[in-house]
Amino acid sequence: MPVFPDHVLRVDQFTRPVLDDLLSMTGQVRRDPAAEYRLRGRILATLFYEPSTRTRMSFESAMLRLGGQVISAEAAADTSSATKGETLEDTARMISSYADAIVMRHPVAGAAEHLAAASNVPVINAGDGPREHPTQALLDIYTIHHELGRIDDLTVTLAGDLLYGRAPRSLAMLLGLTRNTRVILCAPDALGMAPDVLARLSEQGVAYEVEPDLLKAASRSNVVYMTRIQKERFPSAEAYNAVRGSYVLGMEHVEVMPEKGIIMHPLPRVDEIDYAVDASPRAAYFRQAKNGVYVRMAILDRLLRHRRVG
Ligand code: NCD
Repeated sequence: MPVFPDHVLRVDQFTRPVLDDLLSMTGQVRRDPAAEYRLRGRILATLFYEPSTRTRMSFESAMLRLGGQVISAEAAADTSSATKGETLEDTARMISSYADAIVMRHPVAGAAEHLAAASNVPVINAGDGPREHPTQALLDIYTIHHELGRIDDLTVTLAGDLLYGRAPRSLAMLLGLTRNTRVILCAPDALGMAPDVLARLSEQGVAYEVEPDLLKAASRSNVVYMTRIQKERFPSAEAYNAVRGSYVLGMEHVEVMPEKGIIMHPLPRVDEIDYAVDASPRAAYFRQAKNGVYVRMAILDRLLRHRRVG
């Protein structure tokens, strides 16, 4: 079995063999979510300094389904000792004596690395500001695999807020582990993919192009991955209002997609996918959110099964 990383902090920790193993483990969990993959007696701590519905609850659901238990600070920015000035390092030392793994979401890029450096137990980055969201990218790739039967030889459009969106940043970089992938970047001028991700794509040999016309992009894409404009990261309300509503996917886009093409979205959706699209069999975003539980079960299994308790 390929060696799974000790912590899940960034997508560049993954190799193709580790990804393939995780996809197959996720398939096993999906076929038999209740059996065998038990983490009975283990405790997961969820520590969220930013809002979350899906990521936190799907991690908690995953741990409970594996027979483990969960302790949670769901509004850590307001209710944890961070409000008293405790450092992340001290927090890590404490929580790693209460739990066997820590899932953290934090507004600062690199926060998960800081936590991991002081933690005695595995740390999972559930989003560090605008930088990365590796488990979202893993569940996105699993969804592509499950829906389309492959992760290679695909054209994937990433649309919306590619600058502040950590989900499309992580997914773009994880697509670097696939073969013969073409990435189409479709964003308002002010919200294009950042140079560090573009450099990484070039390094990984991923062909990418910029195509601001969503209709043209959709007509060539096996996957259209829509994203929310990340209002909370904008420097001002004016800057947000200038791009708000600039990319809205409707049935006219769905109809031009190649056969079997799917629409994905990490959710929450605000107004960037017309509600009429939900009824289309191509709308994969709610199935994608459900896959989050299976993928996170597989991740927790790989991180914890062979570690000693306490
Ligand atoms: C995303 C996030 O928090 O980065 N949500 C999620 O985890 N599914 C995307 C978003 O908030 O737009």
